[in-house]
Amino acid sequence: MADISSLKEALSASPDNLPLLLLLGQAYLEDLQLSEAKETFERALSLHPGNPVARTQIAQILDLEGKSSEAILRLDQLAVDHPEFAPAWILRSKFALNEGEASVARDCYERAISIDATLADPELLKRIREAGGGSRGRGRTAASHLSQEAVNDDGYGSDFEDDDFESDPFEEVTDGLEFEENSEIDFDHAGGMESVKEDIRMKILYPMENPELFEAYGKKAGGGVLLYGPPGCGKTLISRATAGEIDAKFLNVGLHQILDMWIGKSEEKLHEIFEMARKNAPSVLFFDEVDALAADRKDMRSSAGRTLINQFLSELDRDSAKNDGVLVLGATNAPWHLDSAFLRPGRFDRLVFVPPPDLEARAEIIRIVADGKPIGGLDPLALAKRLEGFSGADIKAIFDQAIEASLGKAMKTGKIVPITQKQLLKSAKGVQPSTKKWFESARNYALYANQSGFYDPILKYLGIEK
Ligand SMILES: Nc1ncnc2c1ncn2[C@@H]1O[C@H](COP(=O)(O)OP(=O)(O)OP(=O)(O)O)[C@@H](O)[C@H]1O
Ligand SMILES: [Mg+2]
Repeated sequence: MADISSLKEALSASPDNLPLLLLLGQAYLEDLQLSEAKETFERALSLHPGNPVARTQIAQILDLEGKSSEAILRLDQLAVDHPEFAPAWILRSKFALNEGEASVARDCYERAISIDATLADPELLKRIREAGGGSRGRGRTAASHLSQEAVNDDGYGSDFEDDDFESDPFEEVTDGLEFEENSEIDFDHAGGMESVKEDIRMKILYPMENPELFEAYGKKAGGGVLLYGPPGCGKTLISRATAGEIDAKFLNVGLHQILDMWIGKSEEKLHEIFEMARKNAPSVLFFDEVDALAADRKDMRSSAGRTLINQFLSELDRDSAKNDGVLVLGATNAPWHLDSAFLRPGRFDRLVFVPPPDLEARAEIIRIVADGKPIGGLDPLALAKRLEGFSGADIKAIFDQAIEASLGKAMKTGKIVPITQKQLLKSAKGVQPSTKKWFESARNYALYANQSGFYDPILKYLGIEK
Protein backbone atom coordinates (compact mmCIF):
# COMPACT_ATOMS: atom_id res chain seq x y z
CA MET A 1 0.00 0.00 0.00
CA ALA A 2 1.33 3.39 -0.96
CA ASP A 3 1.57 5.61 2.07
CA ILE A 4 -0.85 8.43 2.63
CA SER A 5 1.58 11.30 2.87
CA SER A 6 3.39 10.49 -0.36
CA LEU A 7 0.07 10.10 -2.18
CA LYS A 8 -1.06 13.44 -0.85
CA GLU A 9 2.15 15.01 -2.01
CA ALA A 10 1.73 13.53 -5.49
CA LEU A 11 -1.84 14.80 -5.58
CA SER A 12 -0.88 18.31 -4.66
CA ALA A 13 1.15 18.38 -7.87
CA SER A 14 -1.69 16.90 -9.91
CA PRO A 15 -4.93 17.43 -7.97
CA ASP A 16 -7.34 16.04 -10.58
CA ASN A 17 -5.50 12.79 -11.17
CA LEU A 18 -8.14 10.08 -10.89
CA PRO A 19 -5.87 7.05 -10.32
CA LEU A 20 -4.06 8.94 -7.58
CA LEU A 21 -7.31 9.95 -5.93
CA LEU A 22 -8.50 6.36 -5.97
CA LEU A 23 -5.23 5.17 -4.49
CA LEU A 24 -5.37 7.77 -1.74
CA GLY A 25 -8.97 6.85 -0.95
CA GLN A 26 -7.94 3.21 -0.81
CA ALA A 27 -5.02 4.03 1.51
CA TYR A 28 -7.31 5.96 3.86
CA LEU A 29 -9.79 3.12 3.78
CA GLU A 30 -7.15 0.56 4.66
CA ASP A 31 -6.10 2.82 7.49
CA LEU A 32 -9.77 3.03 8.56
CA GLN A 33 -9.78 6.80 8.21
CA LEU A 34 -13.32 6.57 6.94
CA SER A 35 -14.34 10.18 6.60
CA GLU A 36 -11.12 11.06 4.77
CA ALA A 37 -11.59 8.05 2.53
CA LYS A 38 -15.16 9.02 1.75
CA GLU A 39 -14.20 12.60 1.03
CA THR A 40 -11.52 11.43 -1.36
CA PHE A 41 -13.81 9.09 -3.27
CA GLU A 42 -16.47 11.76 -3.42
CA ARG A 43 -13.94 14.10 -4.88
CA ALA A 44 -13.09 11.45 -7.46
CA LEU A 45 -16.79 11.20 -8.26
CA SER A 46 -17.18 14.92 -8.63
CA LEU A 47 -14.40 14.86 -11.23
CA HIS A 48 -15.55 11.63 -12.87
CA PRO A 49 -19.25 11.25 -12.16
CA GLY A 50 -20.42 7.67 -11.91
CA ASN A 51 -16.95 6.16 -11.58
CA PRO A 52 -17.72 2.59 -10.48
CA VAL A 53 -14.56 2.13 -8.41
CA ALA A 54 -15.32 5.19 -6.30
CA ARG A 55 -18.97 4.18 -5.98
CA THR A 56 -18.07 0.68 -4.83
CA GLN A 57 -15.64 2.02 -2.25
CA ILE A 58 -18.20 4.46 -0.92
CA ALA A 59 -20.61 1.57 -0.44
CA GLN A 60 -17.86 -0.26 1.45
CA ILE A 61 -17.34 2.78 3.69
CA LEU A 62 -21.06 3.16 4.37
CA ASP A 63 -21.19 -0.44 5.44
CA LEU A 64 -18.24 0.09 7.79
CA GLU A 65 -20.06 3.07 9.23
CA GLY A 66 -22.95 0.78 10.05
CA LYS A 67 -25.19 2.11 7.27
CA SER A 68 -25.65 -1.26 5.70
CA SER A 69 -29.04 -0.57 4.09
CA GLU A 70 -27.71 2.45 2.32
CA ALA A 71 -24.59 0.56 1.28
CA ILE A 72 -26.68 -2.20 -0.27
CA LEU A 73 -28.94 0.26 -1.99
CA ARG A 74 -25.98 2.09 -3.51
CA LEU A 75 -24.50 -1.14 -4.78
CA ASP A 76 -27.80 -2.20 -6.27
CA GLN A 77 -28.01 1.10 -8.10
CA LEU A 78 -24.45 0.60 -9.30
CA ALA A 79 -25.41 -2.85 -10.56
CA VAL A 80 -28.05 -1.25 -12.75
CA ASP A 81 -25.65 1.35 -14.17
CA HIS A 82 -22.60 -0.91 -14.48
CA PRO A 83 -23.71 -4.54 -14.48
CA GLU A 84 -20.33 -5.61 -15.83
CA PHE A 85 -18.31 -4.14 -12.99
CA ALA A 86 -17.24 -7.31 -11.22
CA PRO A 87 -15.73 -5.95 -7.95
CA ALA A 88 -19.12 -4.52 -7.02
CA TRP A 89 -20.62 -8.00 -7.29
CA ILE A 90 -17.97 -9.37 -4.94
CA LEU A 91 -18.78 -6.69 -2.38
CA ARG A 92 -22.51 -7.27 -2.88
CA SER A 93 -21.90 -10.92 -2.20
CA LYS A 94 -20.17 -10.09 1.09
CA PHE A 95 -22.99 -7.80 2.12
CA ALA A 96 -25.53 -10.51 1.35
CA LEU A 97 -23.55 -12.88 3.50
CA ASN A 98 -23.62 -10.41 6.36
CA GLU A 99 -27.39 -10.27 5.99
CA GLY A 100 -27.55 -14.04 6.20
CA GLU A 101 -28.68 -14.34 2.58
CA ALA A 102 -26.41 -17.12 1.48
CA SER A 103 -28.03 -17.88 -1.85
CA VAL A 104 -27.94 -14.25 -2.91
CA ALA A 105 -24.30 -14.16 -1.84
CA ARG A 106 -23.70 -17.18 -4.02
CA ASP A 107 -25.43 -15.64 -7.05
CA CYS A 108 -23.51 -12.41 -6.75
CA TYR A 109 -20.23 -14.23 -6.31
CA GLU A 110 -20.80 -16.37 -9.39
CA ARG A 111 -21.75 -13.36 -11.38
CA ALA A 112 -18.49 -11.61 -10.41
CA ILE A 113 -16.39 -14.61 -11.35
CA SER A 114 -18.13 -15.07 -14.67
CA ILE A 115 -17.15 -11.50 -15.54
CA ASP A 116 -13.64 -11.59 -14.14
CA ALA A 117 -12.22 -14.95 -13.08
CA THR A 118 -9.20 -13.33 -11.43
CA LEU A 119 -11.49 -12.15 -8.64
CA ALA A 120 -11.98 -15.71 -7.37
CA ASP A 121 -11.86 -15.61 -3.59
CA PRO A 122 -11.71 -19.10 -2.04
CA GLU A 123 -12.09 -17.68 1.45
CA LEU A 124 -15.34 -15.93 0.53
CA LEU A 125 -16.61 -19.00 -1.30
CA LYS A 126 -15.95 -21.10 1.76
CA ARG A 127 -17.95 -18.71 3.94
CA ILE A 128 -20.82 -18.77 1.46
CA ARG A 129 -20.85 -22.58 1.50
CA GLU A 130 -20.76 -22.67 5.28
CA ALA A 131 -23.69 -20.27 5.37
CA GLY A 132 -25.71 -22.69 3.30
CA GLY A 133 -25.30 -21.09 -0.11
CA GLY A 134 -23.95 -24.26 -1.71
CA SER A 135 -26.55 -24.79 -4.38
CA ARG A 136 -27.82 -22.19 -6.74
CA GLY A 137 -30.97 -20.52 -5.57
CA ARG A 138 -33.96 -20.13 -7.78
CA GLY A 139 -35.39 -16.82 -8.82
CA ARG A 140 -33.59 -13.67 -9.65
CA THR A 141 -30.59 -11.88 -8.38
CA ALA A 142 -30.27 -8.34 -7.19
CA ALA A 143 -29.42 -7.04 -10.64
CA SER A 144 -32.23 -8.66 -12.50
CA HIS A 145 -34.58 -7.54 -9.78
CA LEU A 146 -33.59 -3.96 -10.31
CA SER A 147 -33.32 -3.89 -14.06
CA GLN A 148 -36.44 -5.90 -14.66
CA GLU A 149 -38.64 -3.74 -16.84
CA ALA A 150 -41.92 -5.52 -17.10
CA VAL A 151 -43.21 -6.83 -13.85
CA ASN A 152 -46.66 -8.08 -13.26
CA ASP A 153 -48.21 -4.97 -11.81
CA ASP A 154 -51.59 -6.19 -10.77
CA GLY A 155 -51.42 -5.89 -7.05
CA TYR A 156 -50.12 -7.82 -4.16
CA GLY A 157 -51.26 -9.81 -1.21
CA SER A 158 -53.47 -12.55 -2.51
CA ASP A 159 -51.22 -13.13 -5.51
CA PHE A 160 -48.65 -14.61 -3.26
CA GLU A 161 -50.79 -17.45 -2.00
CA ASP A 162 -49.25 -19.18 -4.97
CA ASP A 163 -47.10 -21.81 -3.33
CA ASP A 164 -44.40 -21.72 -5.93
CA PHE A 165 -41.87 -20.68 -3.31
CA GLU A 166 -43.07 -23.11 -0.68
CA SER A 167 -39.92 -25.19 -0.54
CA ASP A 168 -37.51 -22.34 -1.01
CA PRO A 169 -35.24 -22.22 2.03
CA PHE A 170 -35.02 -18.44 1.70
CA GLU A 171 -38.68 -17.78 1.66
CA GLU A 172 -39.22 -16.92 5.33
CA VAL A 173 -40.83 -13.53 4.92
CA THR A 174 -40.23 -12.19 8.37
CA ASP A 175 -36.76 -13.61 8.39
CA GLY A 176 -34.62 -11.87 10.97
CA LEU A 177 -37.34 -9.40 11.90
CA GLU A 178 -37.97 -9.20 15.55
CA PHE A 179 -39.56 -6.69 17.81
CA GLU A 180 -37.31 -5.13 20.36
CA GLU A 181 -39.06 -5.26 23.67
CA ASN A 182 -38.67 -3.13 26.73
CA SER A 183 -36.57 -0.47 25.12
CA GLU A 184 -34.44 0.90 27.93
CA ILE A 185 -34.43 4.39 26.64
CA ASP A 186 -37.34 6.77 26.95
CA PHE A 187 -37.95 10.46 26.32
CA ASP A 188 -35.63 11.46 29.17
CA HIS A 189 -32.75 10.16 27.09
CA ALA A 190 -33.40 12.66 24.34
CA GLY A 191 -32.46 16.22 25.29
CA GLY A 192 -34.77 19.00 24.16
CA MET A 193 -37.09 17.98 21.29
CA GLU A 194 -40.10 19.10 23.31
CA SER A 195 -42.43 19.73 20.39
CA VAL A 196 -41.49 16.43 18.76
CA LYS A 197 -42.22 14.62 22.00
CA GLU A 198 -45.57 16.36 22.34
CA ASP A 199 -46.54 15.43 18.77
CA ILE A 200 -45.77 11.81 19.44
CA ARG A 201 -47.63 11.82 22.76
CA MET A 202 -50.66 13.28 21.03
CA LYS A 203 -50.62 10.55 18.40
CA ILE A 204 -50.25 7.57 20.64
CA LEU A 205 -49.73 8.11 24.35
CA TYR A 206 -52.74 10.31 25.16
CA PRO A 207 -55.18 8.24 23.07
CA MET A 208 -54.00 5.12 24.90
CA GLU A 209 -54.43 6.79 28.26
CA ASN A 210 -57.80 8.37 27.50
CA PRO A 211 -59.51 6.09 24.99
CA GLU A 212 -63.08 7.29 25.70
CA LEU A 213 -62.16 10.91 25.35
CA PHE A 214 -60.39 10.42 22.07
CA GLU A 215 -63.12 8.17 20.79
CA ALA A 216 -65.65 10.93 21.43
CA TYR A 217 -63.71 13.05 18.98
CA GLY A 218 -63.32 10.19 16.53
CA LYS A 219 -59.58 9.84 17.17
CA LYS A 220 -57.69 6.61 17.61
CA ALA A 221 -54.21 5.80 18.81
CA GLY A 222 -51.64 5.41 16.10
CA GLY A 223 -50.98 6.92 12.72
CA GLY A 224 -48.00 8.17 10.82
CA VAL A 225 -45.44 10.79 11.78
CA LEU A 226 -42.60 11.75 9.52
CA LEU A 227 -39.55 13.22 11.18
CA TYR A 228 -37.22 15.26 9.05
CA GLY A 229 -34.23 17.45 9.66
CA PRO A 230 -30.45 17.67 9.58
CA PRO A 231 -28.41 14.59 10.43
CA GLY A 232 -27.47 13.72 13.99
CA CYS A 233 -30.24 15.67 15.71
CA GLY A 234 -32.06 12.76 17.26
CA LYS A 235 -34.58 11.40 14.76
CA THR A 236 -33.53 7.81 15.23
CA LEU A 237 -33.02 8.32 18.95
CA ILE A 238 -36.47 9.77 19.58
CA SER A 239 -38.11 6.98 17.59
CA ARG A 240 -36.51 4.32 19.73
CA ALA A 241 -37.28 6.35 22.86
CA THR A 242 -40.94 6.48 21.87
CA ALA A 243 -41.23 2.74 22.25
CA GLY A 244 -39.66 2.94 25.72
CA GLU A 245 -41.84 5.87 26.68
CA ILE A 246 -45.14 4.19 25.89
CA ASP A 247 -43.90 0.69 26.69
CA ALA A 248 -44.67 -0.48 23.20
CA LYS A 249 -42.87 -2.93 21.01
CA PHE A 250 -40.44 -1.40 18.59
CA LEU A 251 -39.50 -2.63 15.14
CA ASN A 252 -36.75 -0.84 13.29
CA VAL A 253 -37.31 -1.68 9.65
CA GLY A 254 -34.13 -1.47 7.61
CA LEU A 255 -34.44 -0.96 3.94
CA HIS A 256 -32.53 -4.07 3.07
CA GLN A 257 -35.04 -6.09 5.03
CA ILE A 258 -37.71 -5.10 2.57
CA LEU A 259 -35.90 -4.80 -0.69
CA ASP A 260 -35.88 -8.50 -1.20
CA MET A 261 -34.05 -10.07 -4.04
CA TRP A 262 -37.00 -12.03 -5.26
CA ILE A 263 -39.51 -10.23 -7.37
CA GLY A 264 -42.75 -9.63 -5.57
CA LYS A 265 -41.32 -10.72 -2.25
CA SER A 266 -40.69 -7.18 -1.06
CA GLU A 267 -44.38 -6.33 -1.11
CA GLU A 268 -45.22 -9.49 0.74
CA LYS A 269 -42.55 -8.78 3.31
CA LEU A 270 -43.79 -5.26 3.88
CA HIS A 271 -47.31 -6.56 4.37
CA GLU A 272 -46.00 -9.13 6.80
CA ILE A 273 -44.22 -6.41 8.79
CA PHE A 274 -47.39 -4.35 9.13
CA GLU A 275 -49.37 -7.43 10.08
CA MET A 276 -46.84 -8.20 12.79
CA ALA A 277 -47.17 -4.66 14.11
CA ARG A 278 -50.97 -4.87 14.13
CA LYS A 279 -50.91 -8.13 16.04
CA ASN A 280 -48.46 -6.68 18.54
CA ALA A 281 -50.16 -3.33 19.11
CA PRO A 282 -49.36 -1.04 20.78
CA SER A 283 -46.30 -0.98 18.62
CA VAL A 284 -43.97 1.40 16.89
CA LEU A 285 -42.83 0.70 13.35
CA PHE A 286 -39.83 2.76 12.45
CA PHE A 287 -38.73 3.29 8.86
CA ASP A 288 -35.35 4.97 8.82
CA GLU A 289 -34.12 6.70 5.67
CA VAL A 290 -37.65 6.35 4.39
CA ASP A 291 -36.90 8.59 1.41
CA ALA A 292 -34.90 5.76 -0.12
CA LEU A 293 -37.93 3.51 0.01
CA ALA A 294 -40.57 6.08 -0.73
CA ALA A 295 -38.70 8.05 -3.36
CA ASP A 296 -40.73 10.02 -5.81
CA ARG A 297 -42.34 7.47 -8.07
CA LYS A 298 -41.06 9.22 -11.16
CA ASP A 299 -37.54 8.45 -10.01
CA MET A 300 -38.01 4.75 -9.68
CA ARG A 301 -36.36 2.80 -12.43
CA SER A 302 -38.23 -0.39 -12.08
CA SER A 303 -41.88 -1.16 -11.81
CA ALA A 304 -40.99 -3.41 -8.89
CA GLY A 305 -40.25 -0.18 -7.05
CA ARG A 306 -43.62 1.24 -7.96
CA THR A 307 -45.54 -1.75 -6.70
CA LEU A 308 -43.58 -1.58 -3.49
CA ILE A 309 -44.50 2.07 -3.01
CA ASN A 310 -48.14 1.32 -3.71
CA GLN A 311 -48.01 -1.45 -1.17
CA PHE A 312 -46.50 0.88 1.42
CA LEU A 313 -49.22 3.43 0.75
CA SER A 314 -52.01 0.94 1.16
CA GLU A 315 -50.53 -0.45 4.39
CA LEU A 316 -50.20 3.05 5.72
CA ASP A 317 -53.67 4.14 4.72
CA ARG A 318 -55.91 4.52 7.74
CA ASP A 319 -59.05 4.14 5.64
CA SER A 320 -58.26 0.72 4.28
CA ALA A 321 -55.89 -0.76 6.86
CA LYS A 322 -56.54 -1.47 10.51
CA ASN A 323 -53.67 0.31 12.12
CA ASP A 324 -55.14 1.08 15.52
CA GLY A 325 -52.41 1.27 18.10
CA VAL A 326 -49.70 1.15 15.47
CA LEU A 327 -47.53 4.23 15.35
CA VAL A 328 -45.60 4.46 12.12
CA LEU A 329 -42.57 6.69 12.36
CA GLY A 330 -40.51 7.58 9.33
CA ALA A 331 -37.27 9.54 9.35
CA THR A 332 -35.48 11.31 6.55
CA ASN A 333 -32.90 13.97 5.84
CA ALA A 334 -34.44 14.62 2.45
CA PRO A 335 -38.21 14.96 2.70
CA TRP A 336 -38.26 16.67 -0.70
CA HIS A 337 -37.44 13.37 -2.34
CA LEU A 338 -40.54 11.79 -0.92
CA ASP A 339 -43.47 10.98 -3.09
CA SER A 340 -46.13 13.48 -2.04
CA ALA A 341 -48.65 10.65 -1.89
CA PHE A 342 -47.03 9.73 1.41
CA LEU A 343 -47.98 13.01 2.96
CA ARG A 344 -51.73 12.79 2.42
CA PRO A 345 -54.15 12.64 5.34
CA GLY A 346 -54.28 9.23 6.98
CA ARG A 347 -50.69 8.44 5.98
CA PHE A 348 -47.69 10.41 7.22
CA ASP A 349 -50.01 13.25 8.06
CA ARG A 350 -47.75 14.86 10.64
CA LEU A 351 -44.58 16.22 9.20
CA VAL A 352 -42.36 17.10 12.11
CA PHE A 353 -39.23 19.17 11.78
CA VAL A 354 -36.45 18.04 14.12
CA PRO A 355 -34.22 21.11 14.38
CA PRO A 356 -30.70 21.32 15.72
CA PRO A 357 -30.80 21.60 19.51
CA ASP A 358 -31.16 25.12 20.91
CA LEU A 359 -29.05 26.33 23.82
CA GLU A 360 -31.13 24.69 26.49
CA ALA A 361 -31.40 21.44 24.56
CA ARG A 362 -27.66 21.38 24.00
CA ALA A 363 -27.07 21.78 27.73
CA GLU A 364 -29.49 18.92 28.32
CA ILE A 365 -27.75 16.73 25.75
CA ILE A 366 -24.43 17.53 27.43
CA ARG A 367 -25.87 16.36 30.75
CA ILE A 368 -27.20 13.18 29.15
CA VAL A 369 -23.96 12.36 27.35
CA ALA A 370 -21.89 13.16 30.47
CA ASP A 371 -24.02 11.01 32.71
CA GLY A 372 -22.01 8.31 34.46
CA LYS A 373 -18.64 9.46 33.12
CA PRO A 374 -15.82 10.78 35.28
CA ILE A 375 -16.02 14.50 34.60
CA GLY A 376 -14.67 17.23 36.86
CA GLY A 377 -16.29 20.65 37.08
CA LEU A 378 -18.70 20.32 34.18
CA ASP A 379 -20.69 23.46 33.36
CA PRO A 380 -23.19 22.30 30.73
CA LEU A 381 -24.63 25.70 29.99
CA ALA A 382 -21.27 27.38 29.51
CA LEU A 383 -20.20 24.59 27.18
CA ALA A 384 -23.50 24.67 25.31
CA LYS A 385 -23.03 28.37 24.65
CA ARG A 386 -19.92 27.57 22.67
CA LEU A 387 -21.68 24.94 20.56
CA GLU A 388 -24.05 26.90 18.38
CA GLY A 389 -24.96 24.85 15.28
CA PHE A 390 -23.74 21.57 16.75
CA SER A 391 -25.99 18.52 16.52
CA GLY A 392 -26.48 15.98 19.29
CA ALA A 393 -24.19 13.65 17.37
CA ASP A 394 -21.52 16.40 17.18
CA ILE A 395 -21.76 16.86 20.95
CA LYS A 396 -21.35 13.16 21.44
CA ALA A 397 -18.28 13.25 19.18
CA ILE A 398 -16.74 15.98 21.36
CA PHE A 399 -17.20 13.84 24.43
CA ASP A 400 -15.83 10.78 22.67
CA GLN A 401 -12.67 12.69 21.79
CA ALA A 402 -12.23 14.05 25.29
CA ILE A 403 -12.81 10.61 26.76
CA GLU A 404 -10.16 9.12 24.52
CA ALA A 405 -7.68 11.78 25.61
CA SER A 406 -8.37 11.11 29.29
CA LEU A 407 -8.25 7.40 28.78
CA GLY A 408 -4.84 7.78 27.18
CA LYS A 409 -3.58 9.55 30.28
CA ALA A 410 -5.33 7.11 32.60
CA MET A 411 -3.64 4.16 30.95
CA LYS A 412 -0.23 5.69 31.56
CA THR A 413 -0.86 6.28 35.25
CA GLY A 414 -3.25 3.43 35.95
CA LYS A 415 -5.59 5.91 37.66
CA ILE A 416 -8.85 7.46 36.53
CA VAL A 417 -8.15 10.92 35.08
CA PRO A 418 -11.37 12.93 35.06
CA ILE A 419 -12.37 14.74 31.90
CA THR A 420 -12.31 18.50 32.41
CA GLN A 421 -14.38 21.31 31.02
CA LYS A 422 -11.21 22.68 29.49
CA GLN A 423 -10.58 19.45 27.65
CA LEU A 424 -14.13 19.41 26.33
CA LEU A 425 -13.71 22.94 25.03
CA LYS A 426 -10.49 21.89 23.38
CA SER A 427 -12.14 18.87 21.71
CA ALA A 428 -14.97 21.12 20.55
CA LYS A 429 -12.47 23.09 18.49
CA GLY A 430 -11.66 19.94 16.56
CA VAL A 431 -15.28 19.12 15.70
CA GLN A 432 -17.08 21.02 12.97
CA PRO A 433 -20.76 21.80 13.58
CA SER A 434 -22.46 19.61 11.01
CA THR A 435 -25.93 21.10 10.66
CA LYS A 436 -25.11 24.20 8.60
CA LYS A 437 -24.43 22.24 5.47
CA TRP A 438 -27.86 20.63 5.54
CA PHE A 439 -29.55 24.00 5.79
CA GLU A 440 -27.77 25.19 2.66
CA SER A 441 -29.83 22.84 0.53
CA ALA A 442 -32.89 22.75 2.79
CA ARG A 443 -33.17 26.52 2.45
CA ASN A 444 -33.60 26.25 -1.31
CA TYR A 445 -36.32 23.63 -1.08
CA ALA A 446 -38.07 25.62 1.60
CA LEU A 447 -37.97 28.76 -0.52
CA TYR A 448 -38.75 27.32 -3.93
CA ALA A 449 -40.50 24.00 -3.49
CA ASN A 450 -42.61 24.62 -0.43
CA GLN A 451 -45.92 23.06 -1.44
CA SER A 452 -48.62 23.41 1.19
CA GLY A 453 -46.17 25.22 3.42
CA PHE A 454 -44.59 21.92 4.46
CA TYR A 455 -41.24 23.53 5.05
CA ASP A 456 -42.38 26.63 6.89
CA PRO A 457 -40.63 25.37 10.04
CA ILE A 458 -37.33 25.47 8.16
CA LEU A 459 -37.93 29.06 7.07
CA LYS A 460 -38.92 29.97 10.58
CA TYR A 461 -35.81 28.35 11.97
CA LEU A 462 -33.69 30.31 9.48
CA GLY A 463 -35.50 33.52 10.36
CA ILE A 464 -36.70 34.00 6.79
CA GLU A 465 -39.94 35.92 6.46
CA LYS A 466 -42.22 34.74 3.69
N1 LIG B 1 -31.57 15.22 21.50
C1 LIG B 1 -30.59 14.38 21.79
N2 LIG B 1 -30.38 13.97 23.05
C2 LIG B 1 -29.37 13.14 23.36
N3 LIG B 1 -28.51 12.63 22.46
C3 LIG B 1 -28.66 12.99 21.18
C4 LIG B 1 -29.70 13.88 20.77
N4 LIG B 1 -29.62 14.05 19.44
C5 LIG B 1 -28.60 13.28 19.02
N5 LIG B 1 -28.00 12.65 20.06
C6 LIG B 1 -26.82 11.77 19.99
O1 LIG B 1 -26.42 11.69 18.64
C7 LIG B 1 -26.57 10.36 18.14
C8 LIG B 1 -27.11 10.40 16.74
O2 LIG B 1 -28.46 10.82 16.75
P1 LIG B 1 -29.55 10.15 15.80
O3 LIG B 1 -28.99 8.92 15.19
O4 LIG B 1 -30.82 10.02 16.53
O5 LIG B 1 -29.65 11.29 14.70
P2 LIG B 1 -30.54 11.30 13.39
O6 LIG B 1 -31.30 12.58 13.42
O7 LIG B 1 -31.31 10.04 13.28
O8 LIG B 1 -29.43 11.40 12.29
P3 LIG B 1 -29.44 10.86 10.79
O9 LIG B 1 -30.30 11.81 10.01
O10 LIG B 1 -27.99 10.96 10.41
O11 LIG B 1 -29.96 9.47 10.81
C9 LIG B 1 -27.50 9.68 19.13
O12 LIG B 1 -27.25 8.30 19.19
C10 LIG B 1 -27.17 10.38 20.44
O13 LIG B 1 -26.01 9.82 21.00
MG1 LIG C 1 -31.12 8.43 11.95
